Amino acid sequence: MSLHVVDHALIRHKLTALRRRETQSAHFRRLLGEIGALLTMEALRALPESQQRIDTPLVAMVAPILAAPEPCLVAILRAGLGLLEGARTVLPDAPVGHVGLVRDETTLAASQYMLRLPPELSARGALLLDPMLATGGSAANAVRALRQAGTRDIRFACVVAAPEGVARMTAEFPDVPIYTAALDERLNEHGYIVPGLGDAGDRCFGTE
Ligand code: PRP
Ligand code: URA
Repeated sequence: MSLHVVDHALIRHKLTALRRRETQSAHFRRLLGEIGALLTMEALRALPESQQRIDTPLVAMVAPILAAPEPCLVAILRAGLGLLEGARTVLPDAPVGHVGLVRDETTLAASQYMLRLPPELSARGALLLDPMLATGGSAANAVRALRQAGTRDIRFACVVAAPEGVARMTAEFPDVPIYTAALDERLNEHGYIVPGLGDAGDRCFGTE
């Protein structure tokens, strides 16, 4: 199974602040961005490299560079926008896509209301961003949309994952690695992750 629970003291520290009930929207968004940057670094740790001859101010040397253009960043709306802000500080030149998805509160099924993907997607691959992997319906819907757009090379980054969502994603898309800051205990009867951090979109945008 391709699940990576990122082992980083700073990520754990920031996630604890994110989980706190009293953390207000502006702070919540800032933390989400910071975690987004750290998760992006981790998810792209092993991108293929090549060597290039360069001149430093002192000498000539052969130094590593990325072998191919960096992957596209794709945010699942709305809460993925919080992660995207941080991811873009690390990859400022990456093309960006958006997948608008909302869960039905009763059935928990995700429905798509918007899709805008960069043309470079199939050539570059994608890092898909959403802070919450709960039932996995939203992530699965987004991966299907990316696949239909022609890319097989997809990584998924989230902040909190539930075992139910991980099971669904790894069964349906065993070739999509998942990078998460935490694997939580379970979903409650309303489909919320426990202990979780509540509704990420509402907390991010102050719509609670
Ligand atoms: C939340 C969250 C994820 C989704 C996860 O979005 O941001 O996208 O739920 O749940 P799932 O794994 O069960 O699909 P929501 O539908 O609340 O929309 P929002 O981000 O606009 O608030
Ligand atoms: N979406 C959220 O924002 N939070 C959860 O706990 C589950 C789905």
